[in-house]
Amino acid sequence: MTTQQAPAIQVHGLEKAYKDLRVLRGVDFEVARGSIFALLGSNGAGKTTAVKILSTLLKPDAGTARVNGFDVATQAADVRESISLTGQFAAVDEILSGRENLVLVARLRHLRNPGRIADDLLARFSLTDAGGRKVATYSGGMRRRLDIAMSLIGDPPVIFLDEPTTGLDPQARIEVWQAVKELAANGTTVLLTTQYLDEAEQLADRIAILHEGRILVNGTLDELKRLLPPAKVEYVEKQPTLEDVFLSLVGTKA
Ligand SMILES: Nc1ncnc2c1ncn2[C@@H]1O[C@H](COP(=O)(O)OP(=O)(O)OP(=O)(O)O)[C@@H](O)[C@H]1O
Ligand SMILES: [Mg+2]
Repeated sequence: MTTQQAPAIQVHGLEKAYKDLRVLRGVDFEVARGSIFALLGSNGAGKTTAVKILSTLLKPDAGTARVNGFDVATQAADVRESISLTGQFAAVDEILSGRENLVLVARLRHLRNPGRIADDLLARFSLTDAGGRKVATYSGGMRRRLDIAMSLIGDPPVIFLDEPTTGLDPQARIEVWQAVKELAANGTTVLLTTQYLDEAEQLADRIAILHEGRILVNGTLDELKRLLPPAKVEYVEKQPTLEDVFLSLVGTKA
């Protein structure tokens, strides 16, 4: 089947304007199956707009996009069956417990054994102990992890994570990063958006920088680094970063 060999995501000449505001002005990129692709850009660069188009929530003005081999314009239902989207703002139900949220989604997707699916995901995201508690009592990091866990129910081959760690503390970010790495290691294709350079460095197989409606560069971290002149040798005292200090004090291994 051609869908097996083709890249998981193929985007060509994508354009989108909101009235006079031309947000995407011809965006092209591809994402290989089982890889992590980071779309990097400042506030307002158009990251969420691109993710919404790829997840069929928004129609482009021009260009084409295929996800899991399906065209977002003409095969939207197939695209939706192939993906999950974790939006920029968590979509968990506060009144329910973490476990109840997971069971609910598994039931909505008509999966067998919703309880077991929920327990597996709670364990995978280190939420077993908190599983019975109302989400209203969760920290931001726990909510985010639950949100990502919910998006994995049904094992979609492609997942979109829109700013998965915005607003999280360094420890919670590392937990989310770990979860994302495990996903890709298991063959899931991950497209994430971020405005954090270190997040893209840590996670992504390839990084694309979206700026003023276009992809400025697209490559591996090493390829992007080679765009600048080679590093000069300088003798300076290496100061720990604030993040190093924070993490050593709160005791998280990087
Ligand atoms: N529905 C809309 N109507 C009008 N303008 C919009 C709409 N949605 C987004 N925009 C504008 O389009 C631009 C791109 O927005 P988008 O949400 O895609 O950016 P982003 O890269 O996700 O930013 P952030 O990092 O802040 O989440 C912004 O200037 C935004 O104000
Ligand atoms: Mg956004």
